[in-house]
Amino acid sequence: MFRDGLMKGERILVTGGGTGLGKEMAEGFLTLGAEVHICGRRGGVCEETARELMDKHGGKVVPHACDIRVAEAITDMNDAIWAKHGPLTGLVNNAAGNFISRTEDLSIRGFDAIANIVFRGTFYMTHDIGTRWIKGGHRGNVVSILTTWVWNGGPFVVPSAMSKAGVNVMTQSLAVEWGRYGLRFNAIAPGPFPTEGMSKRLAPDADGAKRMDSGTANPMGRVGEMHELVNLAVLLMGPGAEYINGQTIAIDGAMYNASGGNFSMLTEWGDAQWQAAKDAITATNNADKAKRTV
Ligand code: HXC
Ligand code: NAP
Repeated sequence: MFRDGLMKGERILVTGGGTGLGKEMAEGFLTLGAEVHICGRRGGVCEETARELMDKHGGKVVPHACDIRVAEAITDMNDAIWAKHGPLTGLVNNAAGNFISRTEDLSIRGFDAIANIVFRGTFYMTHDIGTRWIKGGHRGNVVSILTTWVWNGGPFVVPSAMSKAGVNVMTQSLAVEWGRYGLRFNAIAPGPFPTEGMSKRLAPDADGAKRMDSGTANPMGRVGEMHELVNLAVLLMGPGAEYINGQTIAIDGAMYNASGGNFSMLTEWGDAQWQAAKDAITATNNADKAKRTV
């Protein structure tokens, strides 16, 4: 879809780029000639991904162990990127945390676990990099990965929906405020693109695959294909369509228009189903946590 070398000269950080959609976008940018940086708390996962992508395509993918909830860790990582590689030209705010839960079952720590990644961490990263761009007189481009819940709410994923809605407003606000510095801000609201991280936390039950992974509830009868998301990310991050600014674009097969695209169907669940979901999600969280290096 895009010409070879389209993104040559770009240096892009994809947060959460070790897995899932972030890894797919990192690969897409790399194959078009960009230098790519990826970060996550599981340093080993980022290292494996960087090696895998460079073995497959050549080029340069640099892994970083960084917890975006920690503002100082973000500053340290970006200091290192600027010093060793040069200024970034783009940022994809992709890292996120999420799990389904009745809101009355959430503790304050449960709310913070998600809000500190999605709402605060995304701002810390955008602020740190945006400020560097302004001080250095560089152009810059930010794409944030949201959900369609920013338009109609997210029952049973309230901390995520609130936080993503905040990032949606950040996108609209900074596109205007920082447009004069040559900085652009857009966002993507994907429908279901099954990934291990998403499916195990949002579809941990026996019917989950039907709900999220099979596309039966989608007007197009299928889930999203990764190359479709990557193509949209390249359109927004690469050169050629710079006048798109301050927009959040859905890529969901019209699921949001048809059914709202959220988890309202989970109102049917009782205590036993919620307990089973929590047990399954906790097992996933613990397995992932064991691999964290920061
Ligand atoms: C209720 C839960 C819970 C659950 C965790 N908690 N799981 N509460 N129901 N299922 C509570 C814990 O009990 C604890 O509170 C608090 O959350 C913090 O838990 P930790 O495990 O210590 O959190 P932490 O180590 O900070 O991990 C963050 C995380 C984890 C968000 C909980 O899931 C994570 O790291 N996720 C990253 C990957 C991810 O989520 N990917 C999915 C993205 S998909 P107490 O009070 O007990 O101490 C997505 C949208 C997809 O974002 C849209 C599809 C259309
Ligand atoms: P995923 O594989 O679980 O991706 C989440 C990534 O974020 C992981 O690599 C994780 O790495 C990283 N991360 C989480 N907390 C972090 C922190 N504090 N610091 C640094 N990195 C952190 O799930 P995904 O499905 O690809 O989701 C990617 C993005 O797409 C998210 O923004 C999600 O909300 C959005 N999205 C996904 C779908 C979908 O259908 N898949 C739909 C709509 C929106 P570590 O655990 O190693 O830190």
